[in-house]
Amino acid sequence: MTSPTSGLVELPRHPDYRPPEPFAGPGHPMRRLTRATAFGESWTRDDAARVTEVFDELAPSWSSDHVDPLKAAPLLDAIDRGGVPTDGRWIELGSGTGAGCRALDGRVDEHVSLDLSYRMLAHAPDHALRVQADSAQLPLADDTADVVLMINMILFPLEVDRILRPDGFVVWINTLGDQTPIHLPPADVAAALPGEWTGCTAEAGTGCWAVLRRAAAS
Ligand SMILES: C[S@@+](CC[C@H](N)C(=O)[O-])C[C@H]1O[C@@H](n2cnc3c(N)ncnc32)[C@H](O)[C@@H]1O
Repeated sequence: MTSPTSGLVELPRHPDYRPPEPFAGPGHPMRRLTRATAFGESWTRDDAARVTEVFDELAPSWSSDHVDPLKAAPLLDAIDRGGVPTDGRWIELGSGTGAGCRALDGRVDEHVSLDLSYRMLAHAPDHALRVQADSAQLPLADDTADVVLMINMILFPLEVDRILRPDGFVVWINTLGDQTPIHLPPADVAAALPGEWTGCTAEAGTGCWAVLRRAAAS
């Protein structure tokens, strides 16, 4: 089914899908920050400092409390059914303690993990290629990524657009669907990114995913 508003194709739910428990509603502060940042409000040093402090504190227990399988289910479904290539360079923004890296281990050619929080990165697997950086201003060249992956991560549309190759893919995952604190519906992700985007979306695990590509110029 194609959503009339976004042009994204909605695929059937994965058979293992189960709805998330109520967790974070629209009033959640992270939710408000995510929407404001995606739709053009400037990301300040104070925002970066506040978010760093939150995740530095959560880092030691993040992988055990925010269990990796929740992350793997939608990510692996996005690869299976979303048509994302597994060769090329995957750049993961807001990679945290490495759930994405663990799920993708042996599945993708190259994976680079970037996060604002040094402490989150410190808990990622030893083999992960890790970079501490603010996604509002990435230390990466233009057109560097074949795939930009974000799992429960704030969207920085201009930087994602800049580092992604013209024919590259964006993979967007919210592991608790609309109960994820850092949440945007897939159609809003497509709307926030510069230009026109096409792709598909589905629900898997307790979450949802979207795979987006730039629409071909007519
Ligand atoms: C909700 S956690 C998700 C972590 C990981 N993706 C996962 O699913 O386990 C959000 C992560 O995004 C990082 N983050 C938030 N804002 C960021 C920014 N501006 N640049 C880079 N990382 C950021 C946080 O430090 C945190 O590790």
